[in-house]
Amino acid sequence: MNIQNQIQLKPFNTLSLDVTASHYIKVQSDEALVEALNYAKQHSLNVLILSGGSNMLLPEHIHALVIHMDIQGIEYLAEDEHSKTIRVGAGQIWHDFVLWTTSQYLYGLQNLALIPGLVGASPVQNIGAYGVEVGEFIESVQVYDRQLETFSTIFAKDCDFSYRHSIFKDDPNRFVITHVIFKLLKHADLMLNYGDLKQAVGDEQTAENLQKQVIEIRQSKLPDPKEYPNVGSFFKNPIITEQLYDHLALTFSKLPHYPQATGGVKIAAGWLIDQSGWKGKQLGMVGMFHKQALVLVNYDKATLADVQATYHAVQHDVYQKFNILLEPEPVLFNESGLIRSHLE
Ligand code: EPU
Repeated sequence: MNIQNQIQLKPFNTLSLDVTASHYIKVQSDEALVEALNYAKQHSLNVLILSGGSNMLLPEHIHALVIHMDIQGIEYLAEDEHSKTIRVGAGQIWHDFVLWTTSQYLYGLQNLALIPGLVGASPVQNIGAYGVEVGEFIESVQVYDRQLETFSTIFAKDCDFSYRHSIFKDDPNRFVITHVIFKLLKHADLMLNYGDLKQAVGDEQTAENLQKQVIEIRQSKLPDPKEYPNVGSFFKNPIITEQLYDHLALTFSKLPHYPQATGGVKIAAGWLIDQSGWKGKQLGMVGMFHKQALVLVNYDKATLADVQATYHAVQHDVYQKFNILLEPEPVLFNESGLIRSHLE
């Protein structure tokens, strides 16, 4: 087992924060994962599971065993008239996997092209874009259950998928995702309802063109982490009560809003941040991106404290103006490698 010490995690988190991990190991199989978890137990170390690092806020020093998931592989499991079932290793790069599905004439994930990160993290926050959420195409998730110390399979119906949420978020220290099993369509059923996607796709209504347009829209608005380190949308789109929406609409008639089937009204956080004057504005080295106010960018060598100063200022200004408290989307870790609340 190759445990390394004092490893720099800057290349492994897309916000490019300077982070030193006391213990680090890359795992490429189920067996290596169990070995690493046993090592942590024997040495009384907390465990931090690192995937693509595209949704994490990390402190400068972490005393824990960082397990970097690198399980590869794509295999066909089953097929029927309408669909194919595929098992994918947690360490596969999400975007490359989406491109592969399209090249294999498998449909469903095209709207999720260019989302950063790895396949294993996709169910955790039920990644979504342009009217599709990954949970719709997941049959089950294979995990190592740290509580029961065994591998098991969790079917989609038990994953509790909803907007940017799953059981893996509720119980983050229990399950380590090793593989995701997808059920993809053999006939394209394009999802074109979101915003101006239908217009962008135009007459060429093919999965290939849909994927191409999604990539172009994302590239035109969202910063490339290699150029502008970021973690995608920094805040969730808040769901507020109908009463608060009705009250706000009196003053802000253009407020983008999406009534929810389950009650409440989803509001575009990007618009709230934009209207609060934060689009393209920086506080020190950290600011909100000039083409999409929902994305926080590390413009230089920011630390977690710099990131927090900026996003607290954004939360404050949005709250003052709209009486809405924005909830950060990325997961915040403490120096012991454990997840901590943004409200502490
Ligand atoms: N808006 C502004 N100013 C801005 C940004 C947005 O006024 O600076 C307005 C837009 O005009 C639009 C509304 O806000 O009316 C919504 O904007 P957009 O369609 O760009 O989507 P979003 O709500 O900002 C969500 C997801 C994205 C996903 C897109 C497309 C969340 C938190 N974010 O963004 O997900 O790609 O929809 O489906 O749900 C991510 O999670 O990292 C992510 C990028």
